[in-house]
Amino acid sequence: MTTRDASFQAGDKTVTLPIIEGTIGPAVADIRKLYNDTGMFTYDPGFTSTASCESKITYIDGDAGILLYRGYPIDQLAEHGDFLETCYLLLYGELPTVNEKADFDYRITRHTMVHEQMARFFQGFRRDAHPMAVMVASVGALSAFYHDSTNIADPVERMVASTRMIAKLPTLAAMAYKYSVGQPFVYPKNDLDYTSNFLRMCFAVPCEEYKVNPVMSRALDRFFILHADHEQNASTSTVRLAGSSGANPFACVAAGIASLWGPAHGGANEAVLKMLAEIGTPDRIPIYIAKAKDKNDPFRLMGFGHRVYKNYDPRAKIMQRTTREVLAELGVKDALLDVAIELENIALHDEYFIEKKLYPNIDFYSGITLKAMGLPTAMFTVLFAVARTVGWIAQWKEMIEDPGSKIGRPRQLYTGQTQRDYLPMTKR
Ligand code: CMC
Repeated sequence: MTTRDASFQAGDKTVTLPIIEGTIGPAVADIRKLYNDTGMFTYDPGFTSTASCESKITYIDGDAGILLYRGYPIDQLAEHGDFLETCYLLLYGELPTVNEKADFDYRITRHTMVHEQMARFFQGFRRDAHPMAVMVASVGALSAFYHDSTNIADPVERMVASTRMIAKLPTLAAMAYKYSVGQPFVYPKNDLDYTSNFLRMCFAVPCEEYKVNPVMSRALDRFFILHADHEQNASTSTVRLAGSSGANPFACVAAGIASLWGPAHGGANEAVLKMLAEIGTPDRIPIYIAKAKDKNDPFRLMGFGHRVYKNYDPRAKIMQRTTREVLAELGVKDALLDVAIELENIALHDEYFIEKKLYPNIDFYSGITLKAMGLPTAMFTVLFAVARTVGWIAQWKEMIEDPGSKIGRPRQLYTGQTQRDYLPMTKR
């Protein structure tokens, strides 16, 4: 046994567990042979101590509040680059040169239109359908419209599917919005950048010209960069697990969108706004702080706490600044922002939140920014899905291209009935 092995005593057996080091972050104990050697599983509901895969894409140090995409700090990418540059970095592992960036932008831009029949597919939804429901269905449906890029064994088809999803998700998201407000779909316009194009598809109407506000476009682009990837979170793990069976990438990303929808994950920014509206005025904050602390009350402060960050979420700092820029540009005075600032201030100085290391997360600010831009709360998680698509795809590709990857198949601790005999109904 080397010093980098751990040993584990199971009954009278001592098992050696090799320790594998990453480039940074915690090492892992390799338990793959544990069941064969001992007949035991490990037990870790919620994966709080389990690394589900090896990855080179994103690194988080939750205690230090650090987030790196391919080694680059998130604040540098958000400050100096644009979203498509981040997409390129996540997909290919390096920042693009001038020519590579121009070529990538061109490829994405030329794939933004969706099959015309998608418009008819949309007509089947109720007008009041939640746009996330529409996204789950329409992204899943892409596999029916783009058969020619579903062969996951072919690297060219994998790249075509990846390009299609990054390019078409904003178009579908804008269509989901337009459908919900009863306005005609707006086709993409190739002379606009990715984010400006998305804003135009959301807010232009055929009867007048729409001029993109560069402050709004930059803010939303930054929102996309900040949400592009976040290592093995619930939706990304869902995409990997779905993809591990060999399912096509459109179906896998649809599964990721379904997971993202939950209020403990991507649905939190929508939940933050609902909570701020319910609080209403700063003087009512203490009531909600008390509710959040009460063990018998299921209420949680939405936008606070994170499974990984036990420090200020580095994305929240950038989002907070962006929120202020957007509100100043649009001249919006939002009473909810006053509640948010006061709530943040109170919670950051409260013993309960300090002790449990509950800091504001990115969702705390993003909702206010998106609301100021004129987007309805039901669209917030949709925008998160647009941004996270590249992360899901990069992680899916990494898994498919790893020769050692296997179908994901967790085990369980069974606590149900032991075997018993079937009784006829009259004898039960
Ligand atoms: N308000 C009040 N108490 C909280 C909160 C909160 N927002 N979050 C955690 N706690 C308490 C919790 O009650 C528990 O206390 P105790 O140890 O006394 O039982 C302790 O802190 C640890 O909580 P946990 O549920 O074990 O922590 P977790 O890592 O499983 O949960 C979380 C992380 C994000 C689900 C949780 O903090 C939460 O529900 N936050 C509110 C929802 C939210 O903002 N979600 C967005 C996450 S960021 C976006 C993303 O990456 O998708």
